[in-house]
Amino acid sequence: MSKTKSTYFCQNCGAQSGKWIGNCPSCGEWNTYVEEVIKKETKNDRLQLFTSKKDTKKTANTSVLLQDVGLQDFPRIAVPGKELTRVLGGGIVPGSLVLFGGEPGIGKSTLMLQLALRLKNLKILYVSGEESEQQIKMRAERIGITTDTCFILQETNTQNIFQQIAVIEPQLVILDSIQTLYTSYVDSSPGSVSQVRECAAEFLRFAKETNTPVFMIGHITKEGSLAGPKVLEHMVDTVLQFEGDRNHIYRLLRATKNRFGNTNEMGIYEMNGDGLREVTNPSEILITNRENATSGVAISATMEGNRPMLIETQALVSSAAYGTPQRSSTGFDLRRLNMLLAVLEKRCGFKLGIKDVFINIAGGIRVEDPGIDLALVCAILSSNEDLPIPQTVCFAAEVGLTGEIRPVNRIEQRISEAQKLGFEKIFISSFNLKGLNQKNFKIGIIAVSKMEEAFSQLFG
Ligand code: TYD
Ligand code: MG
Repeated sequence: MSKTKSTYFCQNCGAQSGKWIGNCPSCGEWNTYVEEVIKKETKNDRLQLFTSKKDTKKTANTSVLLQDVGLQDFPRIAVPGKELTRVLGGGIVPGSLVLFGGEPGIGKSTLMLQLALRLKNLKILYVSGEESEQQIKMRAERIGITTDTCFILQETNTQNIFQQIAVIEPQLVILDSIQTLYTSYVDSSPGSVSQVRECAAEFLRFAKETNTPVFMIGHITKEGSLAGPKVLEHMVDTVLQFEGDRNHIYRLLRATKNRFGNTNEMGIYEMNGDGLREVTNPSEILITNRENATSGVAISATMEGNRPMLIETQALVSSAAYGTPQRSSTGFDLRRLNMLLAVLEKRCGFKLGIKDVFINIAGGIRVEDPGIDLALVCAILSSNEDLPIPQTVCFAAEVGLTGEIRPVNRIEQRISEAQKLGFEKIFISSFNLKGLNQKNFKIGIIAVSKMEEAFSQLFG
């Protein structure tokens, strides 16, 4: 016999409460609590499905010495493509639960289907709650890879999915998406916090008990968090995020959590007519080749995770047309831009308070590395004074509140990347010179410690 119970869940963060409350004590959001009915099942009446073939009378685990634990039986599953391999930390770990998040239309289903099609020696079950079998077939034809080991299942009930899993016994399961699935053990509608959490928990148990890796696609809300909840993020082993501007072709794949690898890694893809293609030389693509140097453009040697990358920062400064000056930024934090403008005004005496300032990072990517500061500031001044920066110059330094040029991490890698791409000069912080063997580089290294020094070196 089962008894029913209802609880209120915050739709924003997944917090739970016995009664309705207006203001969530956990995330601070207002009016986010929704009643969800949960059917409490008796202990043994569920989820025997995927264990039924194996020994169900599993005894309690016993402790073992760490040194005796062997890894030979758990080799990672090699995935096609360097980018995904790197972001996953070297392949798929058996029994891992991976959450793959991103905004609608960014290309999550495409990337997962591509993975399923390319893993030819593995039996894969692609569960879709969003698209029909025909739609998936059309997409597969568009991608242009054929395989005979990928099963498609259009189903949203987890119990039915487990039934199919028991029949097919796949070696990898892909769920598109977790928000469309529902379990009969919870009464609320698909996509609600309790459904999402319960479905994910079922697949977590499945992954761990059968050692089958599971990829779950999850949609992201407007605010940028995974819809239905943060609760998923700590349940899963790995959280991958697919980012980018839908209007641009570049997509960035990042691991924001990874129990089996480094979270600094990043992969870049390009969305083409025939699916996603890996970008192995991002720097060459993200910089525009111009005939003549234009004002307002500066190249920055940044790090995306462990990968050096040269990107183009563009600035446009013009007189404010409507009294209040506008500041707008694409691909860069607006608050940090305001801070840099204040530093320019206060420490260097540039009157930008009456100007509109627009910033854009070329290629539609988003940069968080503070090493981009100096390039940005130089691009702003270049536009303001209408003096172009030579195309052979790039920058790698942070700007502090006092106008000092601060050092950045992994300076050697940044300099090497700039040198590789044929730049002749790179501006860095003089604090970065310590321990740097300048003889290793052919590129001219200009070390500066104050913003004024950088400007006089650049514009004379
Ligand atoms: P999709 O994988 O459906 O996004 P998500 O699952 O994250 O919602 O991809 C959607 C977009 O990708 C769609 O607008 C069309 C585009 N696209 C291409 O440009 N080329 C392709 O080969 C494919 C399959 C999709
Ligand atoms: Mg999709």
